[in-house]
Amino acid sequence: MTFKFKKTALHQIPTDVVALFFFSNAAQFKQQAALLTRAYGAHAASVLDTGDFKAKAQDVHVVYAKKGNRTIKVVLVGLGDRKKATLETYRRSASAAAKKARSLKATSLAVWIPALRGNAPARHQSGRHDVIVAVCEGAALGTYTYDKYITKKNDAPPKLAELLLCSPDAAYARVATNALHEAEANIAGTTLARDLANAPGNEIYPETLAQAAIDAAHRNNFSAKVLDESEIRELNMGGVLAVCRGSAHRPRLIVLEYGNPKKQPIVLVGKGVTFDSGGISIKPSAGMAEMKMDMSGAAAVIGTFETVARLKLPVHIIGVIPAVENMLSGSSFRPGDIVTHYNGMTSEIDDTDAEGRLILADALGYAETFKPSVVIDLATLTGAVVVALGHHATGLMGNDETLMRALKHAGEKTYERVWRLPLFDEYEKQIKSDVADVKNVGGRWGGAITAAWFLKKFIGKYKWAHLDIAGTAIIEEPQDYIPKGGSGVGARLLTEFLRHWK
Ligand code: BES
Ligand code: MN
Ligand code: ZN
Repeated sequence: MTFKFKKTALHQIPTDVVALFFFSNAAQFKQQAALLTRAYGAHAASVLDTGDFKAKAQDVHVVYAKKGNRTIKVVLVGLGDRKKATLETYRRSASAAAKKARSLKATSLAVWIPALRGNAPARHQSGRHDVIVAVCEGAALGTYTYDKYITKKNDAPPKLAELLLCSPDAAYARVATNALHEAEANIAGTTLARDLANAPGNEIYPETLAQAAIDAAHRNNFSAKVLDESEIRELNMGGVLAVCRGSAHRPRLIVLEYGNPKKQPIVLVGKGVTFDSGGISIKPSAGMAEMKMDMSGAAAVIGTFETVARLKLPVHIIGVIPAVENMLSGSSFRPGDIVTHYNGMTSEIDDTDAEGRLILADALGYAETFKPSVVIDLATLTGAVVVALGHHATGLMGNDETLMRALKHAGEKTYERVWRLPLFDEYEKQIKSDVADVKNVGGRWGGAITAAWFLKKFIGKYKWAHLDIAGTAIIEEPQDYIPKGGSGVGARLLTEFLRHWK
């Protein structure tokens, strides 16, 4: 989707499909009704007298208007109560508008962005820049489809290719160029993360995930280095080497770098399990296919690099992605095995399905070699976090209050919300092992926390935050602008975090 801004009056908008936002509050509703009447005539506005369109959030109603020999389809979109509106309201409503436009077979949609005087989203005091970004994000992310492998595309409506943001407001015109650029970057990162997650395991395995990272690096001028199995062995990454043993696909360690090397880096670690069968501790077959998305942490890191590099943010970031496939075979690692990690610590394998923490243990130890100020890892780590938080919040744990508060703020702004779980000392004993330094499972209760505790054993002397995205990265029921499948969560969140951190 391409984005443009046009300073224009409503009735002069050139496209055949136009979206017009309405707050449900009487004063604003009347104001928009008058606008609609002036631009398209009383006939087009007559629905507003019937009560059939009340402008509740995401309400959508199409009216038709004649302009000479053209028929204009005006998509009325509800924003709900003005006092409750946030940027998320604009994302959702823009998504509803774009989906409707697509079903009307439009390839180009004009959106009349609300005049902001007195109409700004009341919470998170946001200005025109943020509203433009949110509208673009909602429209583009909401109409995302993963249709690469659908060979008969004739039935599907054509792609909505262009979004034209329209307003007569000179203040909008002044911020539009920057805002559209920011929106494009955010959308590119999230879309890349979605595409990688949604790609099947026979397309994306460690080698091809690494290639995708290299491609992103070449497109955007950051660096990507890929270590193969022998180099991983030289580094003594016993966790990575154990998990990959049962797979025909050999592991990779992907290292990305962007920005000014004179600055102390922030390291982003992403779990890159390209398919998780569970290994010898095999998963039940129902739902196993979802485990092609078990590299969503890696996808979020690559997506973040895509966005940050496009925006040329003044930061120094290093991405570390251990990439493996967790499979069963005669050469698989097994329950009872003991492995030695990068930092020399040993772990007892109680369950080969708790594989993510094993590869992250190596990566978190390795992160220390970059002398980072901050390390953030993202991982579809536990089913337990989905039990705790469902699909609407990422589990957050860590060792630094300021860092976690900053991530919480970024989560609210982007609506990729995070929610903290405790890392009390008492949980540690659940992962005590009789035969090694630590055991890779912590029993039935508090599984998201004991998994994080396992990671905590391997971190260096840096500020650390762990994001368990198992519930938010893999979406079973569509949410507003997130279709079923990979959500691409993390890229917008981390970019927003990086924009403001120190
Ligand atoms: N990749 C899974 C976690 C997961 C589950 C992600 C559901 C998304 C949706 C992880 O590797 C795993 O299998 N974890 C186990 C850990 C257990 C064996 C201690 C789990 O959560 O069941
Ligand atoms: Mn697993
Ligand atoms: Zn896994």
